[in-house]
Amino acid sequence: MNIDLCELSPSHVRSIAPYQPGKPISELARELGLDENKIVKLASNENPRGIGPRTRAAIEGALGDIARYPDGSGYELRLALAKRHGVDMSAIVLGNGSNDVLELVSLAFLGPGRSAVLSQHAFAVYPLATQARGARLIAVPAKRYAHDLEAMARAVDEDTYVLWVANPNNPTGTYAAPDAVEALLRAVPERVIVVLDEAYNEYLPADLKGDSVKWLKRHPNLVVVRTFSKAYGLAGLRVGYGLAHPSVVDVMNRVRQPFNVNSVALAAATAALGDMEFVAKSYAENLQGLRQIEQGVARLGLDYIPSHGNFVTVRVGKAGEIYKRLLRRGVIVRPVAGYELPEHLRVTAGTPEENESFLAALAASLRE
Ligand SMILES: Cc1ncc(COP(=O)(O)O)c(C=O)c1O
Repeated sequence: MNIDLCELSPSHVRSIAPYQPGKPISELARELGLDENKIVKLASNENPRGIGPRTRAAIEGALGDIARYPDGSGYELRLALAKRHGVDMSAIVLGNGSNDVLELVSLAFLGPGRSAVLSQHAFAVYPLATQARGARLIAVPAKRYAHDLEAMARAVDEDTYVLWVANPNNPTGTYAAPDAVEALLRAVPERVIVVLDEAYNEYLPADLKGDSVKWLKRHPNLVVVRTFSKAYGLAGLRVGYGLAHPSVVDVMNRVRQPFNVNSVALAAATAALGDMEFVAKSYAENLQGLRQIEQGVARLGLDYIPSHGNFVTVRVGKAGEIYKRLLRRGVIVRPVAGYELPEHLRVTAGTPEENESFLAALAASLRE
């Protein structure tokens, strides 16, 4: 064959840097001949609690029906979400993970000749989803690792149709106060869809949470994005959702795959939404985990970015090398050089035992 098949793809697609997921446990086990059960994975901000018994029962109950297509409208889950948030069902769009909702925004509102504003160090899917549509990225320097919302509002140009905000942000764990987010909403033109990605919302203490759903009434250009992957423990099933003006939901539904959320995931998410005790426990355990990791790395003389998520991003120096040394000790964390943080590693808060294993492996890796 004389042609490079990659060259057949449009240049804006070819220029995309692939997303780098956390290394799977099975892959490390294969590579190093390690026992899978001895590997500690703190690389993908998953919930160390797993899932609750009610959610498990709903999953088992849904298995009998998997020969059938799911309810493409996700009626039961949207009904439960509408009740939870006090909105109409027409204001909710479901996604195959919240990642899918982010993609739906970009499919619906971005394209060649348009631009999207995002912060330095922001979640990696925003540039991916923007570039895949042939839209231009406007990256705004962060302020002490956090989104500079005022500068982001100023960066909007006449081509801007989307502005991405992660609150809290991954991988920095930084957070913007409700006042600052509301000021951003007031500052940007109504034409600009403001995506407020609240994947880690359930990990915020009540006094720091803004009532973002309420803002939808005043700001029809707002899309609030939430997920079942983090505090609800369903990362493997892939369910997320967007709350937005019904017209925005309508256009996102036109580009959505008809059956984008599978039936087991729909049943699991509906059950998980009804088990807020599980979420409360996840919240409390996460706080302990964050404290354990933050105190542990501080004892090792390392700086970290104070986190509002379920992970801590730690400055270890030669991060690539320390990452490899941790792998050899059976501990998987996440390098974040791709986020312009070449000296940091991101570690998810795991169980107390997992956090201890990480801290011991980190201490040994720094000494090596
Ligand atoms: C800020 C943020 N948004 C969205 C997602 C996507 O999560 P999911 O597609 O599992 O809902 C993540 C995952 O880590 C995230 O960190």
